[in-house]
Amino acid sequence: MIKGCQTECVAGGCAGEATKHVTESFKASDLIITPATTFKEKPDPSGLVFGTVFTDNMLTIEWSLASGWEKPYIKPLENLSLHPASSSLHYAVELFEGMKAYRGVDGKIRLFRPSLNMERMARSARRATLPCFDENELLECIRKLVEVEKEWVPYSTAASLYIRPTLIGTEPSLGVKKPTKALLYVILSPVGPYFASGSFNPISLWADPKYVRAWKGGTGDCKLGGNYGSSIYAQREALELGCQQVLWLYGEDHQITEVGTMNLFLYWINEDGEDELATPPLDGIILPGVTRQSILDLACNWGEFKVSERYITMSDLTAALEENRVKEMFGAGTACVVCPISKILYKGKHLHIPTMENGPQLATRFLNKLSDIQYGREDSNWTVLVS
Ligand SMILES: Cc1ncc(COP(=O)(O)O)c(C=O)c1O
Repeated sequence: MIKGCQTECVAGGCAGEATKHVTESFKASDLIITPATTFKEKPDPSGLVFGTVFTDNMLTIEWSLASGWEKPYIKPLENLSLHPASSSLHYAVELFEGMKAYRGVDGKIRLFRPSLNMERMARSARRATLPCFDENELLECIRKLVEVEKEWVPYSTAASLYIRPTLIGTEPSLGVKKPTKALLYVILSPVGPYFASGSFNPISLWADPKYVRAWKGGTGDCKLGGNYGSSIYAQREALELGCQQVLWLYGEDHQITEVGTMNLFLYWINEDGEDELATPPLDGIILPGVTRQSILDLACNWGEFKVSERYITMSDLTAALEENRVKEMFGAGTACVVCPISKILYKGKHLHIPTMENGPQLATRFLNKLSDIQYGREDSNWTVLVS
């Protein structure tokens, strides 16, 4: 059975007697590569709006309950042809991933901890009742796609090639049920620097418990499209109130969970007077970010301050602000690595977070360390070479 596949993968079940021959996972060695013969002009990455320009080719792999996975294809990027009843369109039976390829100072192209994205994608697939697959085979297909598109990886240590693996239910019927047809595809999009000015631009947040991003027993710990579509309404309200992103709260005690589409870190002197880097625990409502995990791993390895996965409530934060115990607060994610927070609008009051006044020393250290690894300035077994 495929690693991580806890339920039946195929018609008849993984362990059942041989009924019908179905392919449990596609294989990268079966890739059929018929690349584009006409090429789009490559834009200057510094002026790019996120996710608006795509490379010349895509990876596609079809699945059906009857036959399992078909062979993977790398072929020219094209529109999809879907039955209008497709379950991804009606019931959001859909998931995605977000990762990047970086062109290093040595000219080599690297992926950053891509197996964590593959693991998360397989977990999302299980939760969405979409078919499972071999994570290593998908990673190898993605590596091949990036290799085909290597000229699209920006020649810049401030830009990268964003990789968007996607898995959608293409079940052509209106029943709310586990799909019998699916399509896995991967598209690529060059992206420019997150902070246009080249230095940190801190963000302001709106914190209001009236909107909830995720809840216990829900799907917040998976990267399902529905989690994101339903967050746009709150994001629009944050902008109307002059804030840039939503600080997602949870529960009666207004626990701080995530910022927009980033994990959250608080560097402070905690209630016991200890220097602590804290982030909410993975209790089902937090997306297990690759950047989050990397920051925790680095900080634990440095061993210079306490590192905790713990609950933080708005009253913990306001008390700490009153007592000058907050040093830095920042979001963490693939898009920006770290993103400092300077203000929170909560219960009609603007709370000032002194992240920038404090350097931000720790956020800058994480940014430098992670980008040194991503752009090959530092050797690390966290990277996988594309070419
Ligand atoms: C809700 C949410 N939290 C956190 C993250 C950060 O995850 P990663 O570091 O893997 O990019 C993301 C990334 O897209 C996200 O959507």
